[in-house]
Amino acid sequence: MDTTQKRKKLFSAIQPSGMPTLGNYLGALKNWSKMCNEFDSAFAVADLHAITVRQEPAKLRRQTLEMYALLLAVGLDPKENIIFVQSQVPQHSQLSWILNCYTQFGEMSRMTQFKDKSATHADNINVGLFAYPALMAADILLYQADFVPVGVDQKQHLELTRDVATRFNGLYGNTFTVPEPYIGKQGAKIMSLQEPERKMSKSDANVKSYVSILDTPDVIMKKFKSAVTDSQACVSYGEGKDGVNNLMGIYSCCTGLDYETIQRDFEGKGYGDFKVAVAESVIAELAPVQEKYAQLMADKAYLNQCANDGAKQASAIAQRTLTKAMKKVGFYQGK
Ligand code: TRP
Repeated sequence: MDTTQKRKKLFSAIQPSGMPTLGNYLGALKNWSKMCNEFDSAFAVADLHAITVRQEPAKLRRQTLEMYALLLAVGLDPKENIIFVQSQVPQHSQLSWILNCYTQFGEMSRMTQFKDKSATHADNINVGLFAYPALMAADILLYQADFVPVGVDQKQHLELTRDVATRFNGLYGNTFTVPEPYIGKQGAKIMSLQEPERKMSKSDANVKSYVSILDTPDVIMKKFKSAVTDSQACVSYGEGKDGVNNLMGIYSCCTGLDYETIQRDFEGKGYGDFKVAVAESVIAELAPVQEKYAQLMADKAYLNQCANDGAKQASAIAQRTLTKAMKKVGFYQGK
């Protein structure tokens, strides 16, 4: 790599809404830990986003620290990257207010996630839930991010971020980098082990349908053994084989093997053997993460120190962008 060139910037965030699944790990977190060396990266635990649905305070606090520890456990290095808790960096709330005033009610109303969440939280359709994408835009724009790794469900929010940034730049001159989505090569979408046409989700009522990052080896093995497949008894990728396709995707992510090789290795073998192999690859993949996580959670003082340092670093960068935006808008500078 040409080290004389400035490295591109990367930003992403994850909500502290409980222990992520294998799907979140393979689809997002694992990729972050691979990408973070290539970019100037900042990662946040998005607790401001989390309160758009009602949270139990003690649980939110605990889950925020757990998510922070997990980011370190998957391999993000607080010495190389900025890793912080969103609510510890007040500039996010401040810029988000400004961006609210440059986002149209109409364009916000088109956000499909808002429509979906209004349906599932019909008793609490608050203004924060509606304005959530402007906060997400603030997260990204404060760090002048060039790339934002996101899943498909967040792509519309990123489009809005680009629109708002472009609008603001058009009005006041260049202020924000207009970010691009970063869709990882291994963007494998991991599906439910029980209903493989649906995405793997920790909010699934059937715990057998998902693997949590902290599941023990026994539990992981049991869940894969009871994974839904089909009646063909042939380890190959194809139409109408959602269950097996999903297992192949997981196995490929964990072993680095391509589908052809997997198919060849399991020729003439049944699904039973394959499921055990997939489970073993997942157990091996998660073992170092689980070990590191346990170590970190046993040292809260270290975690607190990392989070406080991360917030300081984030805040210094964020303030530069915020000050710029405040000047452009015409806020009084005290002089
Ligand atoms: N809204 C994202 C989610 O729920 C989390 C998030 C918050 C985020 N701010 C962000 C993702 C900025 C990317 C960039 O998954």
